[in-house]
Amino acid sequence: MDRDALRGRTLVEESREAVIVLDDADVVVLASRRARQSIEGIDEGGRVPNGLLSGDLGIVPLIVPYEVGGRRERIVYLSQVGDMAAYEELRTGFTAAVSHELRTPLARLLSLLEMATLPGEDIHALVERARNEVESASELIDEVLFLSELESGGRVVSLGPVAVRPELDAAVAELEERASRAGVHLSVEGDAATELEMRPRMLRVIAQNLAENAIRYAGPGASFTLAVERNGRNVVLRGTDDGVGVNDEELSRLFERFYRADHARASRGTGLGLAIVKHIVGQAGGIVEASGGKGAGLEIRCVF
Ligand SMILES: Nc1ncnc2c1ncn2[C@@H]1O[C@H](COP(=O)(O)OP(=O)(O)OP(=O)(O)O)[C@@H](O)[C@H]1O
Ligand SMILES: [Mg+2]
Repeated sequence: MDRDALRGRTLVEESREAVIVLDDADVVVLASRRARQSIEGIDEGGRVPNGLLSGDLGIVPLIVPYEVGGRRERIVYLSQVGDMAAYEELRTGFTAAVSHELRTPLARLLSLLEMATLPGEDIHALVERARNEVESASELIDEVLFLSELESGGRVVSLGPVAVRPELDAAVAELEERASRAGVHLSVEGDAATELEMRPRMLRVIAQNLAENAIRYAGPGASFTLAVERNGRNVVLRGTDDGVGVNDEELSRLFERFYRADHARASRGTGLGLAIVKHIVGQAGGIVEASGGKGAGLEIRCVF
């Protein structure tokens, strides 16, 4: 086999997509490992399964004809309906949202800098506001990086059981000062022996996000409790506050990326925190639920 042919064969075989090469008699000349594993009836040297090229098997073929050495062949990309398309859509939407979110603090930063060149402005106050904008941009970047780490298979699950309570205690201890400035009381409940198969860092991220939200949104005078408990065969990790809560419509959207309820728009935050929580919990085999109501506080439950 010459170099080009070998290169072509390797490219197809090792492709991460389901892709096949057909000759003009619809015989499979080459198939990627992914195609052989994920689509029934694909064998090199055999005919392409009936209905595959017409899209009747729930797979959308993208067919690219070409000619080599006078022979007509086709390379066929086989993605599951919704599979790649939905993924691509999500990606594009996500990138657009990140760029948009990043633009806001940058635009504000620029106008602060312009104000600083004007006579009579309070430079100290402007610098303080500028610092805030930079912090919120870098929070966004941290969150996006963390999400992409999770998506590219960053490990959530631990090798063995991990005690939950110490991570909750640590997260709360770190936020105590901010909580008291916001007038929110934090507490932790739960048996020190309750365990989950999750890396301590991931437990900490969940705890931090729930506690931070209570500090930011529940309102002065509210109390927030982080608790871990056994419920039959499940372990439940929950964050409950008795603050302002959200209305029913908002409740169902809290876990969406970039979603922020109306009352939160004025405060800092990007709307990724609960999306991250949901992602972590999902990867560890659990589910998330939100309950509560306007004026009735908010409870986020992670059930494993
Ligand atoms: N304890 C709470 N009480 C009332 N509203 C809340 C509470 N927790 C979350 N929310 C609402 O849910 C929205 C989404 O929360 P999430 O943590 O995903 O994003 P964020 O806090 O706005 O930003 P980020 O966490 O990415 O910095 C918040 O903007 C807020 O409107
Ligand atoms: Mg948050």
